[in-house]
Amino acid sequence: MTSEEIQKPSATSAAAAAKDNREKLLERAMSRHQYSGDALIEVLHTAQELFGFLSAPLLKTIARKLRLPPSRVLGVATFYHFFSLKPKGEHTCVVCIGTACYVAGGLGLIEKLERRCAKAGQTTPDGKVSVESARCIGSCGLAPAVIYDGNVLARVTPDSLDAELNKIGVQ
Ligand code: FES
Repeated sequence: MTSEEIQKPSATSAAAAAKDNREKLLERAMSRHQYSGDALIEVLHTAQELFGFLSAPLLKTIARKLRLPPSRVLGVATFYHFFSLKPKGEHTCVVCIGTACYVAGGLGLIEKLERRCAKAGQTTPDGKVSVESARCIGSCGLAPAVIYDGNVLARVTPDSLDAELNKIGVQ
């Protein structure tokens, strides 16, 4: 084995190191809050930022460290829509179906996404697009509104949504 081979971490060990680092950062966030159960929402936010979603083992670890019943941690994680228990797609499309957006055609946008991508709350099998719905995103004047990869799109039509999906190569 050459010295270069020894120094160069394999893809697997590099991934493992990154994983360890995320665990360390989560631990630091919990420690900052003295492992208090009152910090559950902040800790869940940090965990989701680090891992992308809240897996069952991750929720169990958080419950153990914050000395909370696992059912309580799961209850909070499922109650708030901004927490995700499943991995998200490369792109996220949140369609508002609050009253103003519903009346302006929000449902047609959901139907379009269901035809081309996945049902609301699901991700395409290739992991490309996650489809979500929301009750009101506070932009009623832009109805029907969609949050696409974190940006609010105004007065979206099925055709303009088609164009966005075409840009990212959705078949
Ligand atoms: S109802 Fe859609 S932004 Fe308010």
